[in-house]
Amino acid sequence: MEKKDIDWGNLSFGYIKTDKRFVSNFKNGAWDEGTMTDDAMVCISECAGVIQYAQTVFEGLKAYTTEDGHIVCFRPDLNAARIEESAKRLEMPVFPKERFLEAVDEVVKANAAYVPPYGSGATFYLRPVMFASSAVIGVKPAEEYQFRIFGTPVGPYFKGGAKPITIKVSDFDRAAPNGTGHIKAGLNYAMSLHAIVTAHNEGYAENLYLDPKTRTKVEETGGANFLFVTKDNKVVTPKSTSILPSITRRSLVQVAKEYLGLEAEEREITLEEVKDMAECGLCGTAAVISPVGKIVDHGKEIAFPSGMEKMGPITQKLYDTLTGIQMGRIEGPAGWVHKIM
Ligand code: PLP
Ligand code: COI
Repeated sequence: MEKKDIDWGNLSFGYIKTDKRFVSNFKNGAWDEGTMTDDAMVCISECAGVIQYAQTVFEGLKAYTTEDGHIVCFRPDLNAARIEESAKRLEMPVFPKERFLEAVDEVVKANAAYVPPYGSGATFYLRPVMFASSAVIGVKPAEEYQFRIFGTPVGPYFKGGAKPITIKVSDFDRAAPNGTGHIKAGLNYAMSLHAIVTAHNEGYAENLYLDPKTRTKVEETGGANFLFVTKDNKVVTPKSTSILPSITRRSLVQVAKEYLGLEAEEREITLEEVKDMAECGLCGTAAVISPVGKIVDHGKEIAFPSGMEKMGPITQKLYDTLTGIQMGRIEGPAGWVHKIM
């Protein structure tokens, strides 16, 4: 198969329309059989639940070309499970897990020409999304929904790729104590837009959000979980009921223990103790592991010993091992790498 004429090495994290996407509609209490279509446009009521009350959830996962030329994706079963939790929380119907996994395969196969070649530094980002498509005017769940999976080739989420970034402690909250921070709902991202624009205008790459109840503990950023390395080489990541259960983070904790022989722990992390950490990174599908060199808390700088030039040594090992598994250079735990073609 001939690849598209794309400058893979210079892609940013943006949307490029690809050839085919999967679409299924929910009506009269059931999902239809679904279809692959060329049509990238969505036509719905001006009063659709997604437009009025933001009733929409999504996922993000990537397909990779491996060293031996196959196309694989990483733990798609966990994305299928997470969108189920997200849908339930917003009173939406569940799209069956098996059909989710089949649709991922179909979309990747149909757009294989857009899946970046091995070693290009780019990947194929898949975006499953479900939204309320029928009209509601009183505040209630809609009766009809659309589920879609499309894909786009992407480069690094943060400009500069693996170069450490500087982030700020936000004065805004990302999630409410008993709210929706733990699911992947569009509304969580809408409410983060003012905070991210504010951070960017002040010269920061991202926000560190604190726990919404006490504002003393580290939660996550707008699009990734935190991962810290202590001075005695222990990997620690924040535990909270109001952060997204990142698949990358859960995988990295296992990689740290089983591949690198490190201690790894999920626990509450106070902002106060961050100054004692040796390394800091942001982990997620889009972020992979993006190193953080500095966190600014209202003018007070927390500079990590790993510096602003390169990622810290443990972060680098975690990055190499995870991406090694994803790209087929290292054998992953059973079930992590799903071969598509
Ligand atoms: N946290 C937030 C708010 C996110 O949007 C994401 C991205 O999906 C993550 C964390 C990382 O999750 P994952 O590793 O499953 O992509
Ligand atoms: C992902 O990593 O898949 C996300 O959804 C994060 C988003 C900020 C792009």
